Amino acid sequence: MTEPFLKIQNLNKNYNEKEILRNVNLAIYPKEFVALVGQSGGGKSTLLRMIAGLEDFTSGSLHFNSEQPVVRVMFQDDRLLPWMTILDNLCFGSRRRKKRAQARAMLALVGLEDFENYYPEQLSGGQRQRVALGRALMAHPQLLLLDEPLGALDALTRYKMQELISKICIQQDLTAILVTHDVNEAAKMADRVLVIRDGNTSLEEQGGRRLDESQIEPIAKKLFNDIIDENVKGSYAK
Ligand SMILES: Nc1ncnc2c1ncn2[C@@H]1O[C@H](COP(=O)(O)OP(=O)(O)O)[C@@H](O)[C@H]1O
Ligand SMILES: [Mg+2]
Repeated sequence: MTEPFLKIQNLNKNYNEKEILRNVNLAIYPKEFVALVGQSGGGKSTLLRMIAGLEDFTSGSLHFNSEQPVVRVMFQDDRLLPWMTILDNLCFGSRRRKKRAQARAMLALVGLEDFENYYPEQLSGGQRQRVALGRALMAHPQLLLLDEPLGALDALTRYKMQELISKICIQQDLTAILVTHDVNEAAKMADRVLVIRDGNTSLEEQGGRRLDESQIEPIAKKLFNDIIDENVKGSYAK
């Protein structure tokens, strides 16, 4: 059996006195694409920030199988530097030599080879998220964390970005964790979907990344039912 890339045991997180996550146990395996879904305010971003090392946890353990793996996060907002060109945004913070050539190759990978001299404000939201993806990949991360990165995009752009992220993750053997409240997105992109509920990853469903399109809709439906409160579901059905 493969050793998990990331193992989380009995993890608890409180903000002040409030319990946000309790007794979370999960293992993420190399090259897996895992989605975390759940209601808004359920602790998804908090869990992702703890995995990224951006936030302390209250108790429990969180271990990677390698020492200090390279981890990069992509957020809903692109966090590009507005005074820098797209190419400079990609090179920023990178210590690698030949980084301009690498940045150009990265722009080609995300389909923006003609935009290297543009500034972020001259691009559409979807294009800026492509740049953000390229920038995250510049460091050759072993783990890519995605916190609702497509949440602000229109449906068609979102669909294309889902395809692009999926393709790149497979091509580059990335391990990825996607936080989303969109059950269709989770069902489509992930190998495995963890449902966060009442501060815990209490449910797990198979994702459709390696299935064909027709098998995705029933998975999304099941996830929707897993997440939604009984009382809301009742009123929705009526
Ligand atoms: N820095 C913080 N200080 C206090 N409470 C926080 C902080 N960050 C998040 N929370 C609370 O933790 C809960 C989970 O938030 P979050 O992880 O952002 O949820 P999700 O990403 O699932 O919507 C929410 O109730 C939120 O108000
Ligand atoms: Mg969140």
